[in-house]
Amino acid sequence: MSTTVTEGSTRTNAKTMKVPLLDLKAQYAPLREAMRRAVDAVFESQYFIGGPAVAECEKLIAEYCGCAHAVGVSSGTDALIIALMAEEIGPGDEVITTPYTFFATAGCIARVGAKPVFVDILPDTFNIDPAQLEAKITKNTKAVMPVHLYGQCADMDEILEIAARRGLTVIEDAAQAIGSEYRGRRAGSMGRYGCFSFFPSKNLGAAGDGGMVVTQDAAAAEKLRMLRNHGMSPKYYHAILGGNFRFDTLQAAVVNVKFPHLDAWSAGRQANAARYRGLFDAAGLVQTGLVRLPCEAPQRRHIYNQFAIRAERRDELLEHLKQCDVGTEIYYPVPLHLQKCFAYCGGREGDYPVSEAAAKETLALPIYPELSDEQAEYAVDCIRRFYRI
Ligand SMILES: Cc1ncc(COP(=O)(O)O)c(C=O)c1O
Repeated sequence: MSTTVTEGSTRTNAKTMKVPLLDLKAQYAPLREAMRRAVDAVFESQYFIGGPAVAECEKLIAEYCGCAHAVGVSSGTDALIIALMAEEIGPGDEVITTPYTFFATAGCIARVGAKPVFVDILPDTFNIDPAQLEAKITKNTKAVMPVHLYGQCADMDEILEIAARRGLTVIEDAAQAIGSEYRGRRAGSMGRYGCFSFFPSKNLGAAGDGGMVVTQDAAAAEKLRMLRNHGMSPKYYHAILGGNFRFDTLQAAVVNVKFPHLDAWSAGRQANAARYRGLFDAAGLVQTGLVRLPCEAPQRRHIYNQFAIRAERRDELLEHLKQCDVGTEIYYPVPLHLQKCFAYCGGREGDYPVSEAAAKETLALPIYPELSDEQAEYAVDCIRRFYRI
């Protein structure tokens, strides 16, 4: 730690320190021995595809989500793909989701040949606005794909009610939301399919790519198992067309070592969110409206995969924080209806104003469980100095 004079500061001698957006080395350090033993055991077995580690991971995740079945796959993206394939969604079909999400959500819809149809988000939760959903349903609509963005569940009661009444399948994009709850129900367990990602930055991350689909339906689970392995059952017999969407044994072994820590890590993220609220408040940043903090909607368990603030002069703030060595990220700078590859869907600037505003205003701050009090204080102090409060 050093002492510097920071440009734009109303105080001199401000501290500087490094605050990464995510510190996976800090997570790994106490797990090193257990992780190496688990990885070694896979090497000793020379069983790299499927096997007991994958079965154990599926059991852990199914139980954790309150689902009867879990099917491990190669990524969160592939989890979405095989859920769509299991429903035989393809050309001529439409699937409703939001334009304010990671690309994979709508990318997967398009990759199976269906059309992504967008519905704007709510300004407080960044999740799909159920009040606008029904107007987008056509005779071609097959499914709704709500995204539990940043780790907080969408308004599932409203979505499930509309979907049931209009005969639509609900595929939850729960990639960012493992352990998140909506009225006591776990993310992923409410729709016909719940899709998770073990991308390393998620609350439960692998040492590479991995994902999982959960479902309550035995027939759907069986189909997913076939789809992830070329539609094969029994061996070398292919009644349906699938692909290689299998979950690596090594990745499953890594997830199994991390799994017992998931709730403590999510609690750590929640504690950091509470700490940020206190610090932003004490700094006067909330009262001025220069910064708006993420909301926790009622009856939710937010697992804070991201802590995304809305900030005045966001891009300048980002630059300032970069100079201060505080890691940030914009999730996401371009709403999907304005991405070049979706131009054929006909989206124009102004079509989804809440998503467009969010894309211009949000900035994710470090929220990982190992973030220290000092680091959080420093990050907020850097923001305070930027606004010259
Ligand atoms: C909302 C959302 N959907 C889907 C995905 C895709 O997951 P993966 O990166 O594991 O393919 C992600 C992951 O980044 C995501 O955040």
